Amino acid sequence: MNKFIHGETYVPVSGKVFDQEEINNAIEVAKEGWWTEGRWAKEFEREFKKFLGINYVSLVNSGSSANLVALASLTSSVFGDRRLKPWDEFITCSVAFPTTVNPGLQYGLKPIFIDAELDTLNIDVDKMEKAITKKTKLIMVAHTLGKPYNLKKIMRLAKKHNLWVIEDCCDALGSKYDGNLVSSFGDIATFSFYPAHQMTMGEGGAVVTNNSLIHKSIRQFRDWGRDCWCDTGKDNTCRKRFGWKLGQLPHGYDHKYIYSQIGYNLKSTDFQAAIGVAQLKKLPGFIKKRQENYKILYEFFRRYKKYFTLMKEDKNEEVSYFGFPLIVKPSAPFTRNELTEYLEKNKIGTRNIFSGNLLRHPAYINRKKSFKIVGDHKNADLIMSNAFWLGVYPGITDEMINYVKKTVGQFLSQFEK
Ligand SMILES: Cc1ncc(COP(=O)(O)O)c(C=O)c1O
Repeated sequence: MNKFIHGETYVPVSGKVFDQEEINNAIEVAKEGWWTEGRWAKEFEREFKKFLGINYVSLVNSGSSANLVALASLTSSVFGDRRLKPWDEFITCSVAFPTTVNPGLQYGLKPIFIDAELDTLNIDVDKMEKAITKKTKLIMVAHTLGKPYNLKKIMRLAKKHNLWVIEDCCDALGSKYDGNLVSSFGDIATFSFYPAHQMTMGEGGAVVTNNSLIHKSIRQFRDWGRDCWCDTGKDNTCRKRFGWKLGQLPHGYDHKYIYSQIGYNLKSTDFQAAIGVAQLKKLPGFIKKRQENYKILYEFFRRYKKYFTLMKEDKNEEVSYFGFPLIVKPSAPFTRNELTEYLEKNKIGTRNIFSGNLLRHPAYINRKKSFKIVGDHKNADLIMSNAFWLGVYPGITDEMINYVKKTVGQFLSQFEK
């Protein structure tokens, strides 16, 4: 490893951590010559199922694709009256990653935007129930930067009002709520394996569920919309490939090419899966290191609570941290940008919280009339202007974290006199 030089070596917010195993696996895929989704994808899905303790896993090419296919799967007519249709409403949060909300918009559903809490950056659950109407069918929200939202309350509401729940766990792989992994509460959960996340495939994602009907629908939408559920390269899993009569097709039309959904192709390649197989083995260690780094930063920043809002600690959760978020209090004698510019100048990476307030972005501003915006979104605005996060990923060494503390301390010392 290169020597860390204060003020010269960049401290990134995130990055890939890998060794020879990922490289060897990818070479193996190249040599095998299959390349598209194959045996490595199967192995990854099997191991990921074990890690999550869930029944069904579908590998996809990104977390955004995972969200798209998750929502699409619930539009299938197999769900009868519960299927999602245009103008149905879904509850979401204005502090969001865009592609948590976009699938709903793309399918003509109406988003109900709820503000976020400042000390979790998650949807304000107490504002949800009043917003639910007869048209509300779905709750689709992310666990922000790994911190689980109040799943107890959300699942109670979902049950009471018969709502689907899609947990966007893209930032929260390994986080637990009440002793159970996030992703095990809702009807569907999604993951991203982009490099900033708890593990990576370069690009990649997964959609998981315990429900066999939903799983079948996920596969249909992921794999071109086809009715057949054969794995790539396999034929006749149903044992009546030429025995179906569907739609207005002639009896016996090849089941492999019968389309019962308006689908996509969102599959990953075996290169991605093979890298994922190696990364998954390292995941428990990655999570531990993230937690250690978070704790060090928390202990440091808690001394400066007069300047910063930190995330609240909850006994019933165990967080697999994506980053270390904090909000510069409006009463502080400096702004978020003054601090982050100082850090960046000193080679310390920082990031804002997703979109801040999604409703203020160019793509969303003109559509506002077709949204339902519940109450004010003062917290989302404050998060947009005053919040940021620092890196805790496993590539952040003790030396780096000491340097971060020292540099922040230097910045703050000018206000401490
Ligand atoms: C909460 C959340 N959902 C979805 C995504 C999309 O994942 P991807 O970049 O793999 O498409 C991200 C990306 O970081 C995310 O943070």
